[in-house]
Amino acid sequence: MTQQQTGGDVRLTGISKTYGSFAAVQPLDLTVPQGSFFALLGASGCGKTTTLRMIAGLEEATTGTVTLGGRDITGLPPYKRPVNTVFQSYALFPHLDITENVAFGLRRRGIKSVKKQVDDMLELVQLGDFARRRPHQLSGGQQQRVAVARALINHPQVLLLDEPLGALDLKLRRQMQLELKRIQTEVGITFIHVTHDQEEAMTMADTVAVMNAGRVEQLGDPADLYENPRTTFVANFLGTSNLIEGEVVSTGTDIVVSAGGGKLRLPADRCPAPTANGGRLLLGIRPEKISLAHRDDADEIAEGRNRVTGRIVDSSFIGVSTQYVVESPAGKSLQVYEQNVERRARLTPGAEVVLHWNPAHTFGLDAAQDIDAGVETVEDAA
Ligand SMILES: Nc1ncnc2c1ncn2[C@@H]1O[C@H](COP(=O)(O)OP(=O)(O)O)[C@@H](O)[C@H]1O
Ligand SMILES: [Mg+2]
Repeated sequence: MTQQQTGGDVRLTGISKTYGSFAAVQPLDLTVPQGSFFALLGASGCGKTTTLRMIAGLEEATTGTVTLGGRDITGLPPYKRPVNTVFQSYALFPHLDITENVAFGLRRRGIKSVKKQVDDMLELVQLGDFARRRPHQLSGGQQQRVAVARALINHPQVLLLDEPLGALDLKLRRQMQLELKRIQTEVGITFIHVTHDQEEAMTMADTVAVMNAGRVEQLGDPADLYENPRTTFVANFLGTSNLIEGEVVSTGTDIVVSAGGGKLRLPADRCPAPTANGGRLLLGIRPEKISLAHRDDADEIAEGRNRVTGRIVDSSFIGVSTQYVVESPAGKSLQVYEQNVERRARLTPGAEVVLHWNPAHTFGLDAAQDIDAGVETVEDAA
């Protein structure tokens, strides 16, 4: 496959969708650069599919415009847009073999000699050996690759993917994430991928837009979103964050906060608006950035690190890491992930510990927000 340089950026301007009085998507401005792998990430019901369907033309926007490479396509019917969609249900034709499934779009346009193009597509998705099989003779992941091939053979400028891996089990999903990423790199067209799975979005996408209740909360490359969340929703939804509420004691290059009877520092340039004395702040620290010491060894902790005392209430051995839950005056249920380099026999539930970390690894958030926004509950997961 050669790289396609056609297309241009997808730009949504003030796009919104209301059903009756319910706003499924709030007026949204979004630019998806040509050739990028873009993820729309958010919990179920936040408006991802609706947004995607407005790009595809399957849903009429209540307000706003969709342009592609500067051309306004808002009024175009789906089949006139240079856009194809892959859904979670592959919707392959069961009575046709893989070749004919992939050839479908070409045949419909009256193209007779399809063999070369179909072969190239099957090569691209690594299903060359399966050309004569029927869909039911393939695994879920293989069927989904057929669906991708069937969409790409139409040479869309943009491929829309709506939770395409949702029906696959975890291991297969991981493989397919890498596979889709490879295919996107190879064909070079814009992929807009909808998912509720934050790991999936981070693995695949160049840019992730985190959606919440019909709005984009934050947009950026995965590492930046993870390291510098700007809202509690993003901090909690994208991985796990420990959020500790504190009172600002002093400001400067570092901000010093009093929390749970101790003092904690964080860089001022990782904080929101300038913080006045006496102001409140949420300190955020990711679980893998915290180290644990048994309280008896506390004097071995290097100077200048943030410290919080607590007691281990739970520990789970995950193999690559051990995940601890620590109760502390600074915050309820602090999470610590520690790599399993050596056994830490004394770090068992009940142990008194000191959590310590580099102040530079701390981020600050506005304390006026709901501290638990974006935390996945057992109910959500069901
Ligand atoms: N045709 C419709 N009529 C009324 N409400 C709808 C319709 N389609 C979607 N919604 C509502 O809009 C919201 C966003 O839906 P959707 O875009 O499918 O979310 P997501 O894909 O993020 O799970 C949901 O609350 C959903 O119930
Ligand atoms: Mg959806």
